[in-house]
Amino acid sequence: MKLAITGASGQLGSYLLDELMKDNEVVGVDIRPTEHEAHRNLVHRADVRTPWTMTSWLKDVDVVVHCAAQVSVVNSILDPLGDLDTNVRGTLCMLQACKEMGVGRLVYISSAAVYGNPVRVPLDESHPKRPMSFYGSSKASAEDYVRVFSDTKGLDYMIVRPFNFFSKRADPTNPYSGVITKFVQMALAGKPITIEGDGEQTRDFLHATDVSAMVCKAAFSSVKNETLNCCSGKGTSINELAKAVLRASPNQVDILHVAPRLGDIRHSVGDVSKARKLLDFEPKMSLDQGVASMF
Ligand code: UD1
Repeated sequence: MKLAITGASGQLGSYLLDELMKDNEVVGVDIRPTEHEAHRNLVHRADVRTPWTMTSWLKDVDVVVHCAAQVSVVNSILDPLGDLDTNVRGTLCMLQACKEMGVGRLVYISSAAVYGNPVRVPLDESHPKRPMSFYGSSKASAEDYVRVFSDTKGLDYMIVRPFNFFSKRADPTNPYSGVITKFVQMALAGKPITIEGDGEQTRDFLHATDVSAMVCKAAFSSVKNETLNCCSGKGTSINELAKAVLRASPNQVDILHVAPRLGDIRHSVGDVSKARKLLDFEPKMSLDQGVASMF
């Protein structure tokens, strides 16, 4: 089996390379170089928005995992056209490149952002999609392109919607990085952990290696043309998270409550039962293990 990963220098892409390179022929593409020595010869410079730079890397590829994306919610608000260009047009370019090169399946990495503010939790895949950012809209729209492309031109797909995933490989210099990365940075710097609002808002956290494990299952599965949440199914409040970070931290720092984030989602917890049923997926790393691995 030969696979290609777009966005191979990113957090998820790099874990996918680690996993897939063990037993498969795999090629990575990204607009940024990889930071991982073991991936140096595997990751090539190509842009999903210019498919002619992509097609040569898709030769004899059976499955494409399409992770390449503009991933910042804030950037999507500042530059909605740029977000659309990468996330929607880039995905359509990839679909066309896959078709042209005879690729059999595309696994599209979407996001829980497609749901917006939940009307019920846990969020199952049939929950209405009401994105609250251009990022969520572009991910939802790209999902539609994947489905319509499959229906009209014939390309098997799987759509994976990861919830709040984290790992040491998340970019800590990005001011908009996830709450776990931020809390760990604060604790390591000996600064107070700042909880936005009352801290009773919940999220569904899972480690990036678990996301990677599920995406691999989606890549190799005989199941096709399905959309699946990628989550733990467990809600953790931000207060509980702060305590978990302090349990793992070498520094004991204060917890400070600051103003709630504007437009913050109160509860976001996914329903994992469809992925469990169709892919036999179960996240392996507990939140405590995951948080400990960050230090
Ligand atoms: C996450 C995604 C976002 C996606 C959304 C979909 C990340 C970084 N963002 O947003 O792309 O659209 O899910 O559901 O993964 N918090 C604090 N203190 C901090 C930082 C955050 O209390 O220093 C709180 C926030 O107010 C929020 C929660 O932690 O309530 C989670 O924040 P964050 O990690 O930024 O992710 P989401 O808002 O869930």
